[in-house]
Amino acid sequence: MVKAIISPSVLASDFGQLTAECQRMIKGGAEWLHMDVMDGHFVPNITMGAPILTCVHKGIPDIFMDCHMMVAQPEKWVNDIADAGGALYCFHIEATSDPLSLITAIHARNMKAGVAISPDTPSNAITDEIGEKADMLLVMTVYPGRGGQKFLERCVPKVAELRSRFPEKDIEVDGGVGPKTIDVCADAGSNVIVAGTAIFNAPNAEEVIQLLKDTVNTAQAKLAVK
Ligand code: DX5
Ligand code: ZN
Repeated sequence: MVKAIISPSVLASDFGQLTAECQRMIKGGAEWLHMDVMDGHFVPNITMGAPILTCVHKGIPDIFMDCHMMVAQPEKWVNDIADAGGALYCFHIEATSDPLSLITAIHARNMKAGVAISPDTPSNAITDEIGEKADMLLVMTVYPGRGGQKFLERCVPKVAELRSRFPEKDIEVDGGVGPKTIDVCADAGSNVIVAGTAIFNAPNAEEVIQLLKDTVNTAQAKLAVK
C-alpha cells in the first residue's frame, strides 16, 4: 500500500510571492510542491527554471520540489536542477531516446527519477525495466503546457494498468485534478496528486488538500484488501 502525497502545482500560484505560496501549501498539509518547468520547445509556454527553484529552496531548505520537466532535452538540465535543490526530476518519455541512462544520471545526482507520459502516449511506453528503475510514474490527465484545463478521463485506465504492474510505486496524476475528479484517480490507484487551480484558487486550500489526501488513503486501503 502506498500513501497519499499531495503536490500542489505552483503554476496556479502568485509567482510574485512564490516562496510564501509554497510555505502556505506546506502549512496546509502538502507533502511536496509541484514545480512545472517549461522551456518553450517541448511545450509552447515558458515558466521557470533552476534560478527560481534555487531561490525557493533557499527560502525553504527542507522543501520537496517535485520538478516536472516539460523540456525538449531533459538530459541537459539534470545538474542545474540538482544544484537548485530539486528532490525529484520527472522527465517526459516522449522527449528522450534513452530513458534508462537518464534515470541513472538523475540518481547519480541524488534525486528521485520520475517518468511522465502525455495523454497520447500509451502506458506500455513505460516498459517493465523503465518502470522498475524509476521512482515515480506520472500519468498526465491534460496535455502538458498550461494549468486550468479540463480533466481527460480517458487517461485514467493507464493509471490502473501501471498500478497493476507496479503495486508499490508512486504513481502521480497531473492536470484538471480536484475534488470533482479525484475519485476516479484514487480508485485507479494513483497516490501522488498534483492539483493547481483546485488548490490555489480554493477559499480554503487546507480543506482541499485534506479531502484529496483522505480520498487517496481510503482508496488505497480498499485496494489493499482486494
Ligand atoms: C500542465 C501542468 C500541470 C498544471 C496543473 O502542463 O503540468 O501541473 O499546472 O494545473 P491544474 O491542476 O490547474 O490543471
Ligand atoms: Zn505538472
